[in-house]
Amino acid sequence: MEVLKAIEDRRSIRMFKVDEPSKEIIEDILNCGRLAPSAKNRQPWYFVIAKNDIKDKIANIMINYSKKVDDKEERAKLGCPSSVNPTANVIKQAPILILVFREKDDNWIVEDNLSIGACVENICLRAQDLGLGSLWIRDTFYAAPEIADLVKHGNMELNCAIALGYANQSPKQRPRKDLKDIVEWIG
Ligand SMILES: Cc1cc2nc3c(=O)[nH]c(=O)nc-3n(C[C@H](O)[C@H](O)[C@H](O)COP(=O)(O)O)c2cc1C
Repeated sequence: MEVLKAIEDRRSIRMFKVDEPSKEIIEDILNCGRLAPSAKNRQPWYFVIAKNDIKDKIANIMINYSKKVDDKEERAKLGCPSSVNPTANVIKQAPILILVFREKDDNWIVEDNLSIGACVENICLRAQDLGLGSLWIRDTFYAAPEIADLVKHGNMELNCAIALGYANQSPKQRPRKDLKDIVEWIG
């Protein structure tokens, strides 16, 4: 499949079939993340692949966190969006959850986050290319330290996660801004 087709066809997938992608396929996808560019070639990513009970425990941590802040005002103060609960339910029914960690380094927060963005997009596009669906997840952020401790990586920062599996839905493309509204030519 061409890159353009993978870019055009990729969607955020929130319903997955129960079938689990093979280790070989998952490693192929992670390898494409590994090949992403990174600032100063720091390659600031570390992947933990969660399945079964441990994956459900991660989702439950998010649900419990979200319950703690069910008061609307309190939720807004803590910056815990209402999407945390639905995202946790997506994690529960996806066969695979890739946790993307970053080594804590205050001097490299912006660069490393940009690099991880490139890495995750490579992962999502390769998943699409191989006939899988993915969901890039930031809602793990609110319970990140607890999730990191659960998987014994409390020394690192949980940057984001990716739910992965075979899609059980075909969402339409979500709206995008027109090129003319986001591009300016000068000189
Ligand atoms: C950095 C980032 C974080 C995201 N976090 C979440 C999330 O936590 N939960 C969720 O359901 N979708 C999440 N999404 C998916 C976006 O909602 C989605 O990409 C957007 O609505 C466009 O839809 P599309 O991916 O199908 O084109 C995230 C996407 C990105 C790029």
